[in-house]
Amino acid sequence: MVNLHKLKIMPSIIAPSILSADFANLQRDCEMLNNSSADWFHIDIMDGVFVPNISFGFPVLKAIQKHAKKPLDVHLMIVDPDRYVQQFKEAGAEILTVHYEACTHLHRSIQNIKNNGMKAGVAINPHTSASLLEDVIKDIDLICVMSVNPGFGGQKFIENTYNKVQQLNALKLKHHSNALIEIDGGVDLNNYKKLLECGANVLVAGNTVFGSSNPTETIAKLKS
Ligand code: DX5
Ligand code: ZN
Repeated sequence: MVNLHKLKIMPSIIAPSILSADFANLQRDCEMLNNSSADWFHIDIMDGVFVPNISFGFPVLKAIQKHAKKPLDVHLMIVDPDRYVQQFKEAGAEILTVHYEACTHLHRSIQNIKNNGMKAGVAINPHTSASLLEDVIKDIDLICVMSVNPGFGGQKFIENTYNKVQQLNALKLKHHSNALIEIDGGVDLNNYKKLLECGANVLVAGNTVFGSSNPTETIAKLKS
């Protein structure tokens, strides 16, 4: 039987996604996050090739870096991410996440990120099996489980994510991995508790935070 007293209950990490911020008032929204109970800034970089959308690049990221007082969690939805690893470090990324589906030599990409002094994350699309991370789970700091098809904010949460989080937790236990499990896409005030119960550690929320009438309060609710 599991001894509940021995279980380490990890507080959840809340990472609001800047993609849903008001880009004409980026400084204001960064300061709102600084003064809220958010833990990280989630930054989505999209190249229009890996995903059918283009978000923003280094100039905007550097502007965010100037105002953000919390770690930048950078999610690369781009092909050939190895080319830009050092530049993302220079632009302030603390955690750099690449897609499993975009990396032919994933192990090399992970080492590249770590050698550049960042935490390494790997994101998996909704169709990608959790088991495919088995051979790298010990090497990574974060697994980003896409709970929508990447490319846009405000999409509907995919229910199979709960199973995936449980499978990943089993895989972590098997390999003594400390990787954090991050959920990205469609996280809201109705599903966040169940996600945490399944073993998620980091919740990304774009539309739920920035689309609400009181973003600071919404972040506090997700954090509780
Ligand atoms: C989707 C992005 C997400 C997105 C989440 O491709 O990776 O980070 O901003 O937005 P919501 O929380 O609105 O689904
Ligand atoms: Zn993201």
